[in-house]
Amino acid sequence: MDNTPRLFIKAGLIYALIGALLGITLAVNPSLSHPLRFIHIHLNLVGFMTMMVAGVAYHVLPRFSARTLPWPAGMKYHFILQNVGLIGMVAVQGFGDWKGGPHQAYFIFFAILTGLAFAIMFYNLYFVLSSAEEGPPPTEITGDMKVGPVIDQFPQALKIFIGSGFEALANPTARKTFARVISIDKACEKHGVSSIEFLEKLNKEIFENSSERDEAGSSGQEIQRGEMCEGDTRVGSLITTYITTKAVFEKHYGESCFSCPGQVFETVAQTASMHNVDLELILREINSAIQNELKTGE
Ligand code: HEM
Ligand code: HEM
Repeated sequence: MDNTPRLFIKAGLIYALIGALLGITLAVNPSLSHPLRFIHIHLNLVGFMTMMVAGVAYHVLPRFSARTLPWPAGMKYHFILQNVGLIGMVAVQGFGDWKGGPHQAYFIFFAILTGLAFAIMFYNLYFVLSSAEEGPPPTEITGDMKVGPVIDQFPQALKIFIGSGFEALANPTARKTFARVISIDKACEKHGVSSIEFLEKLNKEIFENSSERDEAGSSGQEIQRGEMCEGDTRVGSLITTYITTKAVFEKHYGESCFSCPGQVFETVAQTASMHNVDLELILREINSAIQNELKTGE
């Protein structure tokens, strides 16, 4: 499991313990209802329940809809804002009457932080689901398709784009921002690339090569010793060829990663997308592990 969903679940469990302790305190001494009632309710509902749900949803929904969250880094901001907002609201309540006076301004400030956290959660979870309704994958890439979604769906297209003069796409932020709104035709026009030739090359790589690979029973490339890893390298082949790269996957995806049968035939790009991990980042770490392994001759 990725790190931030795990943090959400751990924090949720801690809030549950504190919430239960406060509930018991309230049951023993109901006169503490102010301020403990508000604190008990919100630690349980905003802390425990919402964080548990968010942690599980951030882990499950990208897999469920087979796509990356629209803003993976937003998970971290959500986590920070919700914790700071909740602890702030609870602290202001704990200091006495929050209604009127300066306390209310502080309360509103932390309430807005919590509200922002909820807005990030809404954006990520709502839109990771809405793209799942997109129907079957295309059987041909056409010029009116947007660059970003094509690369998301066919990670092997990235190297064709970069090799054909679209170097800016090596930057993951570019892929998540302007590449989402520009069509292949428009991008070719801007870069002075013939869109007919480019589309022919792209379709050949994606559909002809992948069907050859499908016939061989795999959707990714094998890797041989001495070679470097790319987005379409199969994880199963990679970890048997370079045993030390296993640690990189464990670091990013968690130790349970290798109990998943998918890792044998999925490509590095597919697994990175499923785990909301930046492909360039994990490729850099894998390739540096490969270089070390080759150097030390392990
Ligand atoms: C050991 C566990 C718990 C104990 C002993 C406990 C105890 C209490 C008590 C004594 C009250 C009344 C407070 C008052 O009126 O001043 C209360 C209210 C409340 N508790 Fe808990 N609670 C526990 C767990 C939870 C959990 C897990 C949740 C939510 C997930 C929760 C949500 C609420 C809510 C929403 C209220 C307000 C209900 C209302 O407006 O009438 N509690 N709890
Ligand atoms: C941005 C997040 C939130 C803010 C700023 C907020 C703020 C407040 C405020 C100001 C009150 C009235 C407290 C009073 O009368 O002294 C309240 C009550 C309450 N809130 Fe929230 N809340 C938030 C999120 C939530 C969520 C997510 C839940 C449930 C899932 C929830 C459940 C409740 C309940 C049950 C009460 C009634 C408490 C009572 O009866 O005394 N709140 N909240």
